[in-house]
Amino acid sequence: GKGTYPYYMLKEIDEQPAAIRRIIQEYQDDQGQLTIDSEIIAAMQASDRIYIIGAGTSMHAGLVGQALFEQLNGIPVEVHVASEFAYNMPLLTEKPFFIFLSQSGETADSRQVLVQVNELGYDSLTITNVKGSTLSREASYTLLLHVGPEIAVASTKAYTGQIAVMAVLADVLANAQGRKLDFDMETELSLVANAMETVVDDKDHLHEIATQIFTDVRNAFYIGRGLDYYVSCEAALKLKEISYIQTEGFAGGELKHGTISLIEDGTPVLAVISQKDTAAHTRGNLEETRARGANTVVITMEGMERQDDQIVIPAVHSLLAPLVTVVPTQLLAYYASLDRDLDVDKPRNLAKAVTVE
Ligand code: F6R
Repeated sequence: GKGTYPYYMLKEIDEQPAAIRRIIQEYQDDQGQLTIDSEIIAAMQASDRIYIIGAGTSMHAGLVGQALFEQLNGIPVEVHVASEFAYNMPLLTEKPFFIFLSQSGETADSRQVLVQVNELGYDSLTITNVKGSTLSREASYTLLLHVGPEIAVASTKAYTGQIAVMAVLADVLANAQGRKLDFDMETELSLVANAMETVVDDKDHLHEIATQIFTDVRNAFYIGRGLDYYVSCEAALKLKEISYIQTEGFAGGELKHGTISLIEDGTPVLAVISQKDTAAHTRGNLEETRARGANTVVITMEGMERQDDQIVIPAVHSLLAPLVTVVPTQLLAYYASLDRDLDVDKPRNLAKAVTVE
């Protein structure tokens, strides 16, 4: 049950630090080293490209996975929306490896792709929260999220869990490839869990910001670049899904190519800024919207913050920053929905597992 929580979503947001620690434990061997089934590692090592397939939030987790596998393993990755891939399959490389991301393991759009992948005879891995689910049974391999049941329709701990499991996978694969990483994944994931805790302890502050910027507005924007852009897409989906505020996640540099015309007095624009190489550019993009009346909010990381930044997360490894920057955006969405007296856990028109194409 949800215990003393008013909604499952808030409980599940709060469970994220423990979920990350659980993932570290579940994927540790007797010596305390991160470990993954060697058959999965061998299949990935033999592939020339990884195709990540998912829908909604799971697809957004895939975008972060792409950065992890490309940067830590040097394997090219493509991320695809399942419903598109199923009927517009791109040209595949010679040795593709498929990763299906699905909290429920029952999403029909993703399954439709898996059926075709199986017909073509390619190896696949399902990363899911549900043991014995359809996508788990039908794929060559499965890795479980171990984050506990997710009840709220809006996915939170499954998103961070999927990224954490992919981080473990990328780390173990890097070891097998003989690629020496300049950081210890287990340590960095533990720091992520601690940083998440700091954010979930900051609820009152985040509620205040949500009330300030989202009351009476009809649309909003999240902007960022690179990994921060991927988090912006997820942050926008979460906000629109449960508050019904029309929200777009946008690449910071792309706004000025058209969409900036939507900015009016009081339009909320939230920037995710956790990557040093693009921080100055995103700040510039945010400033352009502020000059046109936007109500701007910065979500950034310690060591990169400026005086008036409203939301500053503890410092974590830049590749893992999405695991932490997403948490304040989940809470902002939660409070926007709560302030509007909506049913946070059951937004209209939606089901937890989408079993039709
Ligand atoms: C958004 C959300 C959905 C799911 C999507 C895929 O909060 O929950 O976008 O992420 O329907 O579901 P799974 O991961 O079960 O395949």
